[in-house]
Order: sequence, then C-alpha cells, then structure tokens
Amino acid sequence: MAERPTGAPPIEAGVMATYARQGDVFVSGGGATLRDRAGREFLDFLTGIGVCALGHGHARLTAALQDQAAALLHTSNLFRHEYSETVATRLCAHTGMAAAFFTNSGAEANECALKLARKVMRQRGTPERTSFLALEGAFHGRTLGALSLTHDPRHRAPFEPLLSTHWIPPDDVDALAAALRSRRPAALFLEPIQGEGGIRPLSGAFLRAARTLCDATGTVLVHDEIQSGCGRTGSFLAAQHHGVTPDVVTLAKPLAAGLPMGACLARRPFADVRGLDLLREVLTHLASEPQTS
Ligand SMILES: Cc1ncc(COP(=O)(O)O)c(C=O)c1O
Repeated sequence: MAERPTGAPPIEAGVMATYARQGDVFVSGGGATLRDRAGREFLDFLTGIGVCALGHGHARLTAALQDQAAALLHTSNLFRHEYSETVATRLCAHTGMAAAFFTNSGAEANECALKLARKVMRQRGTPERTSFLALEGAFHGRTLGALSLTHDPRHRAPFEPLLSTHWIPPDDVDALAAALRSRRPAALFLEPIQGEGGIRPLSGAFLRAARTLCDATGTVLVHDEIQSGCGRTGSFLAAQHHGVTPDVVTLAKPLAAGLPMGACLARRPFADVRGLDLLREVLTHLASEPQTS
C-alpha cells in the first residue's frame, strides 16, 4: 500500500480511502486462523470487527452458500422466500419480538428503527415528536440517520446537520428522566453493552429504569444489540440478563457470520400489520432475504 501523505488521503488502487487499511492481504482462513499471500498465519482476534462468529471456512456455512448460489441468488422482496419466514420466526422466538425486517447492515437496521419510531409518533397523533435520545459513547452506524445517534464528534462533524439527538451520560437515570420529560423524543436508542464506546455495560438498574421511563412517557425504546447480541454474552440478547425487553431491537454483525445481513425486530404494537405495511418503505430493494438455511 502506498504511504499516506498528510492531508487528503490518496485513492488506493481505485478504492476510496475511507479507512486506514493495513497492507496485509489475507487470502484464506480456517477457524480462528488467517493466512496472508506469503503463507504466514495469524490468529484472528478481530473476526472482521465482530462479524465472523463461526470463524473462517466453516464447512456447513460454506456448503449452504454454495448450494444456494447454485440454486437461486435473489428474487427481490416482492416475493415470499423459502427461508426468510423461518429465520424471522426463530429470531422473534429468541428476542420476544413479533416481526423482523431484514437489512444488509447494522446501520440500516437502525435506520429502520429510526423510521419506525417516527411512524409510531405520527400514528399516535404526536408528529412533533421527531427527535431522539442516545447515550454518550454510543455507536449506531455511519449512514446519516444512524450517524445522528453516534456520539463521537469526529464521525459527526463533517456531516452536520444531522437529526436532532440529545445525549445522556450512561447509567444516569435522573438525566434520562429529565430529558424524556422535557424533550419528548420519538425514541431512546441504547446499546446494553457499548461496543465502539469501549465495552461499557449499562447497569441492570439503568436498563430497567429506561424501560419504565419509556413506558411512562410513550417513548419507543430501541436496543441496539448489533455488537452485544446473537449469544455473545451467554443469552441471546445482553439485556435478557436483566429481564428487560425493548420495543425494538436491532441485530447485525455475527447474524450471518460474515455475509452482509442485519435485522430490525419489533414487538407488538410496533410490529402490527399497519406498522409492517409502513416498514415496506424503509430501505433498499436488495434489503436482504436470508438466502440460506
Ligand atoms: C452497536 C453497533 N451498532 C451499529 C453498528 C453499525 O453496523 P454496520 O457496520 O453493519 O452498519 C455497529 C458497527 O460497529 C455497532 O457496533
């Protein structure tokens, strides 16, 4: 890789220089091991930033992908799909939610949650509730909406103005209660364990208080379990250790073990028929169907 001059980053062989990439090119992997072009082996502690939950070269995953690629790749979301309802039903059973909307990434799952919250406020006759609450240290993604919920000013500054978000210090119940009452946001977004913010678990007391306060103020409670979910902490969702069920939960990263896939799951009444009909407007046309069993 060419050395980076200070100032504007160069275009690296046709790829926009959005990340400070390492020079190593990995060409194969097995389990927790990666191999580079020179045949050197590395123990993979990064797992694609928390994505490759089954390791590299998993035999069953590889076989399922090969079979499906040969059978049928994509049919759009205008048609029912052999596997999407099975996966959605399983995810709902694991999370206590009623319905799933599949996406291609975590950021899109959060976009879905943002739009769902706005739609809920309109349906309830409070369309003026357009703003959001999120936590200091939060990372919810880099699309414009998800970036609005991401706290680090270095990520946000080049793209302002973003959606209106007010920040709460983690575990500060008084600050949360005051902001919910005075600002009347559409939704509160939180990661039960902050990931990019530095592996910071929220206390059970704060998670339970957030649930109670959101109920009292009619605020949609969204848990982003994109880092902490899918069994990483021993239960399917990290918040399940504290007996807390949100209104909406977002998943991605390890969900498809390395394929781009996310999900926004909602419980009733947020996932009712009307809500689902509205969700159709949410995202991209590719918005994926799980393509393998
Ligand atoms: C908690 C959390 N939410 C959302 C995202 C965004 O997910 P994606 O990179 O798939 O858009 C991330 C990514 O690191 C994350 O850690």
